[in-house]
Amino acid sequence: MKKLAILGPGVVGGSCAEILLRDADLLERNAGEQLELSYVLARRALPDRPYKDKVVTDFSVIEHDADVFLVIETIGGCGAALEYVRRALAAGKHVVTANKQLIAEHGAELLALAKANGVSLLFEASVGGGIPVLHPLSQCLGANEIYEVRGILNGTTNFILTQMLEHGQSYEAALRDAQTRGYAEQDPTADVEGIDAGRKVCILADMMFGKNVDPSRVRMTGISAITAADAAFAEAAGMKLRLLGRAVRQGQSLTVFVSPHFIAGTQPLAPVSGVLNAVEVLGSSVGAVLFSGPGAGGPATASAVLADVIDIVRNPGRVQPVSWPAEPAALCDPEEFESLFFFRTRLPKEACEQALGPVRWLPDAGAFHGGFTQKTTRRALRASGLALDAVWPVLA
Ligand SMILES: NC(=O)c1ccc[n+]([C@@H]2O[C@H](COP(=O)([O-])OP(=O)(O)OC[C@H]3O[C@@H](n4cnc5c(N)ncnc54)[C@H](OP(=O)(O)O)[C@@H]3O)[C@@H](O)[C@H]2O)c1
Repeated sequence: MKKLAILGPGVVGGSCAEILLRDADLLERNAGEQLELSYVLARRALPDRPYKDKVVTDFSVIEHDADVFLVIETIGGCGAALEYVRRALAAGKHVVTANKQLIAEHGAELLALAKANGVSLLFEASVGGGIPVLHPLSQCLGANEIYEVRGILNGTTNFILTQMLEHGQSYEAALRDAQTRGYAEQDPTADVEGIDAGRKVCILADMMFGKNVDPSRVRMTGISAITAADAAFAEAAGMKLRLLGRAVRQGQSLTVFVSPHFIAGTQPLAPVSGVLNAVEVLGSSVGAVLFSGPGAGGPATASAVLADVIDIVRNPGRVQPVSWPAEPAALCDPEEFESLFFFRTRLPKEACEQALGPVRWLPDAGAFHGGFTQKTTRRALRASGLALDAVWPVLA
């Protein structure tokens, strides 16, 4: 029997607790041992929860109980969560977390701490919610040189863009709709400005390339500047407009960024709509592999958390299976990233062609012209001196 503690019984932690209580037999079968929920750390008593008798408000109770084998961290952020994860690892307890900010910002340190204490820190749920993606990446693609990892990593923004493209909603109306349905927070900044997707693409890059990609050095452009005209241009081009996080290998360096993209309908990521997430990996032997599914939600995310728990229980002697060094990765400037670009402008088409060369124009949307450049870089577009209202890379 293995004793577990959950820190932070919110959407994800609460679902983990409920599944642990409800599906105990199934989990025991799959883990090979009984999993006992011994503690739930909360900030106050929770008398209406089925695990009310397990609630504690002092982390040191968990820290000092030598029988606690594993701690599930679902508080979020890098305040109390960081402190408790450090203390749990130092106390020789395995840790499973769903916290992308924690892993993106402190992963190298915490993974080293896990290793030093002979325990595991797993974080499958931190990228792609319920989609099994990190485990297959580290376990099943080891025979590949990875060229690129890219994905639709934030369900809120994908929902908003889908509503704009497929239902003709404005950005503001689609955001309100996402908030009403509970997909977007009241303060949606981390989602709509690409910060959440940025943290996830950093974790993917850390794992795939074995380097520490610091989120503060990654350019994250969200969807708040996207207009109905952009949606009309995408539709006219037979393309989708999606927020992508990308980590692209260029020699020994990486280009990592988050940006809206125009995506050709033939691309595997194109049909990924609504709140779904997807990650595409391009490897030397396997070619392109796509992982897709529910990127958020309590039960879906708890599914990934508890899969990590089962993995650790089944492999008790194994030390930290995945890690990357603390030295920062050499990152290329995304301004130099070569691509076709979509642009929107009110400038005369002739002036654009004079500065940029041939442009594939789309039908005008109101007062705007929109078109595609030849292969170029953002730096070259900037150097053209043209006042372009939007510039998004194209995945052709
Ligand atoms: N929600 C998703 O679909 C999803 C998907 C993938 C990953 N994640 C990640 O999972 C983590 C949790 O997300 P969530 O949506 O479950 O958040 P949430 O619903 O806000 O839950 C957080 C929980 O932690 C508790 N908490 C906060 N500070 C605490 C402290 N100092 N001590 C003890 N408990 C504390 C909160 O209690 P109070 O009620 O007192 O505030 C709340 O119960 C985050 O890292 C998030 O990024 C979430």
